[in-house]
Formats: sequence, structure tokens, C-alpha cells
Amino acid sequence: MLAGKSILLVISGGIAAYKSLELIRGLKERGASCRSILTTAGSEFVTPLSVAALSENKVYMDLFSLTDESEMGHIQLSRAADLVVVAPATADLLARMATGQANDLAATVLLATDKDVICAPAMNVRMWEHPATQDNLAVLKRRGIGFVGPNEGDMACGEWGFGRMAEPAEIVAAVEAYFAAAATRRGRPLAGVRALVTSGPTIEPIDPVRFICNRSSGRQGHAIAGALAAAGAQTTLVSGPTPLPAPSGVTVVAVETAQQMLTACEAALPVDVAVCAAAVCDWRVAGEAGEKIKKTEGAPPPVLSLAENPDILATLSSSGARRPRLVIGFAAETSDVVENAVAKRLRKGCDWIVGNDVGPSSGTFGGEDNTVYLISATGVEPWPRMSKDAVAQRLVGAIGRALEDRP
Ligand code: CTP
Repeated sequence: MLAGKSILLVISGGIAAYKSLELIRGLKERGASCRSILTTAGSEFVTPLSVAALSENKVYMDLFSLTDESEMGHIQLSRAADLVVVAPATADLLARMATGQANDLAATVLLATDKDVICAPAMNVRMWEHPATQDNLAVLKRRGIGFVGPNEGDMACGEWGFGRMAEPAEIVAAVEAYFAAAATRRGRPLAGVRALVTSGPTIEPIDPVRFICNRSSGRQGHAIAGALAAAGAQTTLVSGPTPLPAPSGVTVVAVETAQQMLTACEAALPVDVAVCAAAVCDWRVAGEAGEKIKKTEGAPPPVLSLAENPDILATLSSSGARRPRLVIGFAAETSDVVENAVAKRLRKGCDWIVGNDVGPSSGTFGGEDNTVYLISATGVEPWPRMSKDAVAQRLVGAIGRALEDRP
């Protein structure tokens, strides 16, 4: 249904123009309002009066009409619509659109519009097949102009082939499909974006039964992965051990150690955005024992010697041509959150860092809420205390805006 939608219909000069009267009726029956521009050639086939009567709106014809311009300027005419439909779109009008001409009201409006345009071509089969028309069509398609038809069949000129304008019902269906797709795009702003998220702790074995770990619950990372997927991003979540369920729509790669997490992240590249929310153990035990370490009566406790783990965030930030367009880290701090996080962003080479206080009094590490600062090259943005789901939503909103600015 098209309730509340405003369509600007451009009727150019072809025998199929009579069908645009039925098109206006179909659009209005579905709740759309319709303003029309009729070219001079178009007015040879349908009268302005019949278009005005069916659309219940004034018909615009003249680029230099003082009255029309004072009522609604041609720029405003092109901007006030939600969608522009050209039916019939003659070979001549398509050529003028392809070459950016503005020599009558229809061409001017089509050049000035900031709205999407759907054309329903109608012409003789030889004109349709002519390389000039086909070249113009390719140019217009590349610019994002939508097309419905033409259909194959008998022509008014007695020939047979492609060139008949799509039926009004088909054009109405194309308009409805356009608005349905636009609504889906709005609800899924990250459609087409590939995202990688790390989450949870890593565990570093001491021997087959013991390990070093940390208190990370994985809640924040999992919430971010879920929010990215809900926004339409194709999301891979590389997670250390956590009891949390896999967020819906996310591909989960379960790992244990930092080294495994790095390998899984590198395998997930290329991505557009990487969010490193995992609490990766900075060290692993050097020389993990193959057998359970036994207590020996009277012997001193074993001394664990540690080796540094790879830094996944720093590695992704410096991955050259495979570097994600946006790399985001977390800085879990127990004191001087902002100072430490600002320094960490520079040290790790990521674009943003989300600084959070994980001190014992904050209740955030493993808890439901988070109090964070979003730190980028342009400054520090304190966010109020909110649930980890809300932090995830807000971060995903910021990611969407940032990716639009970073083609
Ligand atoms: N990180 C990582 N790989 C590591 C260590 C950390 O990817 N081996 C990432 C974390 O996922 C987080 C960021 O780096 O996004 C910062 O983690 P944090 O533990 O706060 O920093 P550290 O590098 O461990 O520094 P420090 O413990 O000295 O504060």
C-alpha cells in the first residue's frame, strides 16, 4: 500500500500516454497522492484536463509559467515527491535524461530531483533496440534509475517486439516494491556491511586441567555482535568460552586461547568494521605442561613462566590492505579511564576506543550495565551509565554513520 506517499508522474509523448491515466487511478487507489508533469508532446495524447481530473491535482506543463513557479517552483516540485515515475518514458526523454538536458519542465525536474526515479519506457521496437537508446539505458541504469518494462507485444505502429509500455498494474507493483525495499533498507542500515567482533575471555592452559582466565562475561561483545546483525551487517563473532547463547543471525567461531582468537579473526577478513571487545589474556604460560602438574611432597610450588600473547586489536589495526575501514577497541581500566584509554588508542592504532571503568566499585565487569567513553581522534564522548544492550545499540548507530563517511 502507498498511503501517504507522494508520486510525481512525468508523462511524455507516446501513444502509451493514455495508460498513464489508469496508472494515476491505480496509485491513488492505493493511497498515494499524485502530481503530474505533462510534456508538450504528451499533451498531444492526453489532455491536461483528464490528468488533472484523475489526479485531483494541478498539472504542470510549462517551465516558464509565472503562475506555476509562484505556486510551486520546479525545484520544489521535484523535491516534494517521495518518488518520480516517468510513464511513458519516450526514447527522446531517456536521451535527454542521459545527457543531462534541461530544455523543458520534465527534463529540468528530472535533472534537479534528489529523489529516486523509475521509468516505464515506451517506443517502437527499432527505437528500443537502437544502440543509442541501449547506451542511454546503460548510462541511466548505472546512475541508479529504475526501469519497469518495456514488454513484448503488438505495437501501435503494427510491428511486434519489445517497446510496449508496462501495464499500469505492473508499474504500480514496481512502485510498491520500491517502497517496500526502501523500508527494509531503513530498518537494516548496515545491510551489505561485514563485521567482526571479539568477545569473552580467553583461557590459557597451564596443563591439561588448569588454565589462566579472567572475569569477562562476554556480555558487551555479544550484545554488539547481536546489534550489528540486527542492523543487517554480516557478522562473525569470535568468542572465548562463555555461557551466553549465540546472538541471533551471527556466525560464531568458538575459540579458547588468544592465539586461536587471532587465527580466527584473520580468517574472517576482509571486513568493514572490527570491534575487539574480548578480554584477551595478555600472557600465556610458556611451556604448557603436557601432563597434569603433580604436587610433590616437600617440593616448592611450581613457578609459572609467562610469554606475551599476540595483540589482536593492534594486529587488525596494522593489517595493511586488509585493515577494516573502522577498527574499534575497548579499554578496560580500573583507574584514570580516559587518560589510559586515549593512550591505548594511539598505542594500538585503532580508530576508536571504548573506555570503560572495570574497577571493583563500578560493577561493570561481568555486570549488566556499562559506563563508557567513546574516544576517537576528534575527542572524548562520555556516555551515561546504561545497559550493555543500550551501549551496543548506540555504538552500532555510530558505526553506521562513520561507515557512510568512509567509503
Ligand atoms: N586486546 C587484544 N589482544 C590482546 C590484548 C588486548 O585484542 N592480546 C584488545 C582488547 O580486546 C581490547 C583492547 O585490546 O579491545 C584493550 O584491552 P585491555 O585489556 O584493556 O588492554 P591491554 O592491551 O591488555 O593493556 P593493559 O592491560 O596494559 O591495560
